[in-house]
Amino acid sequence: MWKSPRQLAEKHKGQPRKASAMGYVFQIPIVLCWSLAATLAAPGDGSASVTNIFSPLSTPAEAIYENALLVLVICAGIFLVVGGLLAYTIIRFRHRPGDAGREPPQVYGSSQIELAWTVVPILIVFVLILVTARAIYDVQGAVPPADALNVTVVGHQWWWEIRYPELGIVTANELHVPVSESSRPRPTFLKLESADVAHSFWVPQLAGKTDLIPNRTNRMWIEPKQPGTYLGNCAEYCGTQHAHMLLRVIAHPPGEFEQWVAAQRQPPLEDPQARVGREVFFSTSCVNCHTINGTPARGTFGPDLTHLMSRETLAAGAAPNTPATLKAWVRDPQTLKVGSLMPNMQMTDTELEHLVTYLLSLK
Ligand code: CUA
Repeated sequence: MWKSPRQLAEKHKGQPRKASAMGYVFQIPIVLCWSLAATLAAPGDGSASVTNIFSPLSTPAEAIYENALLVLVICAGIFLVVGGLLAYTIIRFRHRPGDAGREPPQVYGSSQIELAWTVVPILIVFVLILVTARAIYDVQGAVPPADALNVTVVGHQWWWEIRYPELGIVTANELHVPVSESSRPRPTFLKLESADVAHSFWVPQLAGKTDLIPNRTNRMWIEPKQPGTYLGNCAEYCGTQHAHMLLRVIAHPPGEFEQWVAAQRQPPLEDPQARVGREVFFSTSCVNCHTINGTPARGTFGPDLTHLMSRETLAAGAAPNTPATLKAWVRDPQTLKVGSLMPNMQMTDTELEHLVTYLLSLK
C-alpha cells in the first residue's frame, strides 16, 4: 500500500535505525558537535548550500532521521550514565594523603549487577533491531503511486547519466523532479545501475545511500517536499575522481517541472553563428562519445549534450557551467579533473573558440 508522507512520518516517529548502541557511545560528542555545526551552517529550506542529514525534506530521509535521533538519544543516555559513574569514581576514590599502603575493600561478584548489565544492553539492541527492520520495510516496500515519476540513474566514472524513459529525456548530473505535495504525492522512483564500477547515490536531505552496482539494478525513491536544489554526491569510492562525482537534485513546483520537461524534449536550436563550431564537433572524436539530439551524434560513453547549457555545473559538479570554465574544460579536461576519461583533443585556439560557441548554443 502506498502511504502518504504524513502517514509514514507518523509511523516512523521515534524509531531507531542502527542495531548497535555501544558503538555510538564514543561517537556521540563528535556527532553532536558536527550536527550543531552543520545545523548552524545550513539554512532549513530545500536550497541548502551545505547538505545536512539533520534537516530531512523527503519521506525516506525523515524515516532515517527519526530513527537516528532515537539511537542518538539512547546512546547519549548510556554515555551520561557511564561517563557520570566514571567521573564519580575518579573523584570519590582519588588518592588521598595517608592512603599509602592501604587497600580499599575488595568486593567480588554480584549476580544482580552482572544480570543487569547483560540483560539491559540485550533489550536495547533487540528494540533497535525491531524498529530498524520496520523502518527499512516501510521505505523499501513502498509501492509507487500511479503518477510517480520513474527515472533511471546510471553511474559512470565520474558522472551520472540520468534517463527519463517515459519522457524520452536523457541528461546528466542534475536530476530534475517535481515537488511532492500532500494534496498530490508525487515521489520519484529511481532505478540505479552502473556502467563500470560500484558507485553510491546519496542526497542526504532526500534519502539514505543506495549503491549502483554493475550488472545489477537497485531501487530507491525520493520525495522532496519543498522546491529547491538538494546537493548530493557519490558515496562509494569509485576511483581517482570519486570526490568530484557530485550530484544535484532540483525539485520544481509541478507547473515548472512540466516546463522543464517540454524544454528538454525540444531538439537544440540551430544557431547560424555556431555553424563552424558544429563542423569542428562533427569532425573530431567528440561525436563518438556524446549524443546531441537531432544530429548524427549518437555516442553514449560521455554525457548527453543536447541541452548542455541548461545545466548549472560542468564535469559532475567539478566547476560551474560558465563559458570560461567550459572553454578550460574542453581545452584540457585533465587540469579541471585529473583522470577524467575525456581526452584533450589538442585543438587550436580557433577551433576551440568555434567549438565552445557551438556548445554554448546547446541550451
Ligand atoms: Cu562514483 Cu564514487
